[in-house]
Amino acid sequence: DLGHFRHYMQKEIFEQPTAIANTLQRVLELGCKPALFGPEADTLFANAPAVRIVACGSSYHAGLVARYWIEEWTGLPVSVDIASEYRYRKGREQDGTLIVAISQSGETADLLAAMRSARERGDVKVLALCNVPHSTLTRESDLLFLTQAGQEIGVASTKAFTTQLVALYVLAAALAQSRQTLSASALDEIVGALHRLPVLVEEMLALDGELDKWAHELSHYNHALFLGRHTLFPIALEGALKLKEIAYIHAEGYAAGELKHGPLALVDENMPIIVCAAADELLEKLVSNLREVEARSGKVFLLAEPGCEAAHDGAHRVLTMPVASGPLAPVVLTLPLQMLAYHTACRKGTDVDKPRNLAKSVTVE
Ligand code: F6R
Repeated sequence: DLGHFRHYMQKEIFEQPTAIANTLQRVLELGCKPALFGPEADTLFANAPAVRIVACGSSYHAGLVARYWIEEWTGLPVSVDIASEYRYRKGREQDGTLIVAISQSGETADLLAAMRSARERGDVKVLALCNVPHSTLTRESDLLFLTQAGQEIGVASTKAFTTQLVALYVLAAALAQSRQTLSASALDEIVGALHRLPVLVEEMLALDGELDKWAHELSHYNHALFLGRHTLFPIALEGALKLKEIAYIHAEGYAAGELKHGPLALVDENMPIIVCAAADELLEKLVSNLREVEARSGKVFLLAEPGCEAAHDGAHRVLTMPVASGPLAPVVLTLPLQMLAYHTACRKGTDVDKPRNLAKSVTVE
């Protein structure tokens, strides 16, 4: 039932505060405890020599964000692989490696093949992060965390993606707890931030009208670049994926520091550049990346947390977030990118919930 929404995708974007709150329910009662992932998790987390994340599409982007959190909070080596590539690679896995398989549906063929292939490469343990309780992935995994996004009908992942991010954030904190790599106060702060998350996400929905105006402009272009750094780099990839899959606009996501290694050659007054900015230690670097774009007349659409004023000069449009969200910035900044893609698609009149050539669950290779 769509209620007053025009599309399932729009409804699912607006369901995110609830989907996230539901995913966090046990976490907020218990804290980021390893036991949330299964009775064996504490020992496995404490002894894992490495983490390997495998996934496809948006789920892969969630994995890319998680790498920053896990590395920063635990010091563990983390690799993130596209499942369709990993399954045909030949490397071994160190015994005890934690394989994190991320999938909304739990039925993606390449992901299941990657998980089975990992088991043949070493004595690994598979942690499934999934939105569908009785899926193939959940049945074959050793450890499990279920996201509580509810059924997602729109083909483009929205609430499934943000709840995956939340689950991965909890995983990173739980790993830190088992491995004792953070002080109690640092861990408290990380867990405490989750309490505010549903409200932060809710506040983002108020930006919908403004993003519709951006979409009106964006819908006249055939190409777009998305930029970010650190945890916002995978969010740039995700923003570009959303725009291409539902609005059929060719879009590329880049780590802003990569610009001068090639894509800058594409920048002129016909290239809109959507930028996600956080007030972190890389802001200054991002600002100099933006100067390079602006010097070539690229049109910068800036989505910025408070404290990023240095990036405002020269931008074509600026939208400032209500509050800074610290390590949760990638979750919060996903919403405006979803809304931007959604409104651009609506303005172009595409079939938002069922984009051409795509299926919700890719059960063939
Ligand atoms: C993009 C999208 C896809 C899925 C991908 C993996 O909006 O929805 O890229 O993320 O097909 O699907 P799951 O997570 O079900 O394995």
